[in-house]
Amino acid sequence: MGIVIRQLIRDEIERIWEIDRREIIEGIYYFCDGELVLEEEYYHMGGWPPDESKIYTPILIESFDRGGIFFGAFDSDVLVGAAVLDNKFIGKKNNQLQLKFLHVSHSYRKQGLGVKLFEKAEEVARKFGANKLYVSATPSENTVNFYLRRGCEVTEDVNEELFTLEPEDIHFEYLIK
Ligand SMILES: CC(C)(COP(=O)(O)OP(=O)(O)OC[C@H]1O[C@@H](n2cnc3c(N)ncnc32)[C@H](O)[C@@H]1OP(=O)(O)O)[C@@H](O)C(=O)NCCC(=O)NCCS
Repeated sequence: MGIVIRQLIRDEIERIWEIDRREIIEGIYYFCDGELVLEEEYYHMGGWPPDESKIYTPILIESFDRGGIFFGAFDSDVLVGAAVLDNKFIGKKNNQLQLKFLHVSHSYRKQGLGVKLFEKAEEVARKFGANKLYVSATPSENTVNFYLRRGCEVTEDVNEELFTLEPEDIHFEYLIK
């Protein structure tokens, strides 16, 4: 039947941690002196970092309860990808919405699912009247390249709260088409 993307209900939020986070990372981006610099670094991620669900589940539930939109991609009843669009306007012009989460399971990557989920979030953000998406991106090579290829640019309007939460991330903005 293929992959079905649908909105998640509140009780399904914790299922996000069922997404297979495994990844071999061979490069990490740093933002130095106004430029993105790729450094060779090797990490074998065997799954989610130990505290990830503890830190992020309450943040995700809080977003859901105030109207954040959650998409899940299902292969039968297995959750293999998810995207979350927050509905709190941020940015100096108060015209940005955060793409709060975007992950695809290891063996489902590079098949177009990440782009589909990104576009779903973009579509909702457009409907909500946002001009831009704000993305705090994992600095790994594959992830940063994914966002650059979508047209994301390193933002000058860094959100302090999100930067404090993820100082090593690359903080992007994306102009909604
Ligand atoms: C970043 C991430 C969400 C991207 O998801 P994905 O499903 O792999 O993304 P897609 O398959 O849609 O796109 C990735 C690339 O594969 C290409 N692709 C799509 N279908 C393809 C196919 N059938 N064959 C080959 N390549 C394909 C896309 O064109 C895209 O290339 P481009 O970026 O050069 O344009 C995913 O790799 C991931 O979850 N990574 C680990 C977690 C992470 O860091 N998440 C982001 C947190 S901010």
